Amino acid sequence: MLTEAPHATSPDDPAAWAYRGCADVERQVALADLGNADGVPSALDVVVTMNEAGYHRRRRVVAVEDSGDGRHVVGLGFFIADLRDNPDSADVRVAVLPEHRRRGIGSALLHRMVEIARSEGRSVLQAEVDVADEPDAGGPGVLTAPTGNGRVRADAPGVAFARAAGFDLALMARRSCLTLPLDDALLDRWEADARAAAGREYRLHTWRDDLPQRWHQAYADLEHQLTVDEPNPGLDLEPEQWDADRVRAILDRLARQRKGFVVTGVEHVPSGRLVAMTVLEHGLDTPEFSEQETTVVMPEHRGHRLGLLVKAVNLRAHLAAWPSVRRVWTWNNEDNPHMLAINVAMGFRPAGGAALFQARADGVRSPRA
Ligand SMILES: CC(C)(COP(=O)(O)OP(=O)(O)OC[C@H]1O[C@@H](n2cnc3c(N)ncnc32)[C@H](O)[C@@H]1OP(=O)(O)O)[C@@H](O)C(=O)NCCC(=O)NCCS
Repeated sequence: MLTEAPHATSPDDPAAWAYRGCADVERQVALADLGNADGVPSALDVVVTMNEAGYHRRRRVVAVEDSGDGRHVVGLGFFIADLRDNPDSADVRVAVLPEHRRRGIGSALLHRMVEIARSEGRSVLQAEVDVADEPDAGGPGVLTAPTGNGRVRADAPGVAFARAAGFDLALMARRSCLTLPLDDALLDRWEADARAAAGREYRLHTWRDDLPQRWHQAYADLEHQLTVDEPNPGLDLEPEQWDADRVRAILDRLARQRKGFVVTGVEHVPSGRLVAMTVLEHGLDTPEFSEQETTVVMPEHRGHRLGLLVKAVNLRAHLAAWPSVRRVWTWNNEDNPHMLAINVAMGFRPAGGAALFQARADGVRSPRA
């Protein structure tokens, strides 16, 4: 049976059974398909994001089975659309517990996602399929992204499903992991080299778990710049509008999700502008890992090693704040060579990725033969 997840405002709310079920499905799917569940949304994450208004429209549908001992969520469909930007498109995700696959549940959930997209006026659907590793080039059944960068196995369940449904592969994103602890001398060297290259015009600021209000608009400008610059070939995406209110909303959301963060920003002293920044997020209930979020340098300040500088300084602040962390995860489009090069130089190692697919909603068909 498919049903729209009832709304709930706390993970302990009895009505949150579907939100808790979604978190459980995501966790089991990640463990089975990727071998690791770092970064999957917790029940609290699902509840908090489903209660967030203003910037996104989110809907969740669950597949429920009653196996005699109560109802179990065995699959989910998740629809998310920007409310301020990209008015024609939406992201959809379908996930089914491994032991319930190949019975049509994924197809039924996808059908509901397409119906929701139509009712919400979205004609372009994007979908991300997470994969455990990148196969070697030239092997049988290996798909190369149309950009030429990044490969994926055609028989990975999500890839086979998306293609059978009429989605086209647009590009690949690489997931990378930095294993801690790090040699302090390495951090010292990166920082010293980058500071020497950057010169005297730049001043660094590091903030933990909050960001002074005077920098909110500057931070918003950097987030906007990322959406201008990040290469997304093959995906119909336009730059996002950001303002100080949106930054405040994110800071509030992170607090509700029990997520800490460290941000390092670079002020260009002569102009007083914030021209680069990077963010690491850390879930207070998941002591062993953290996630790299936005890193961006304003175009006119590139080429001064500010990317490496902010990342090295921020990583040091992060290690001091949360010494229990053993893994730092990051995502980069395979078509973003400069960011990838910095991460590789810092010791991030490839650990799977995501295939990014797109389809027109009216071109999606049932993946079942
Ligand atoms: C992708 C996923 C949702 C499919 O769920 P499902 O319930 O097995 O889907 P269905 O039973 O409706 O399968 C529909 C069709 O997709 C294709 N397909 C699905 N899994 C496949 C696989 N492992 N190998 C080859 N084809 C596959 C087949 O054409 C299948 O039809 P068939 O069973 O009649 O041959 C599930 O494997 C999953 O949760 N994967 C992890 C999450 C993910 O990658 N989501 C992807 C997209 S948003």
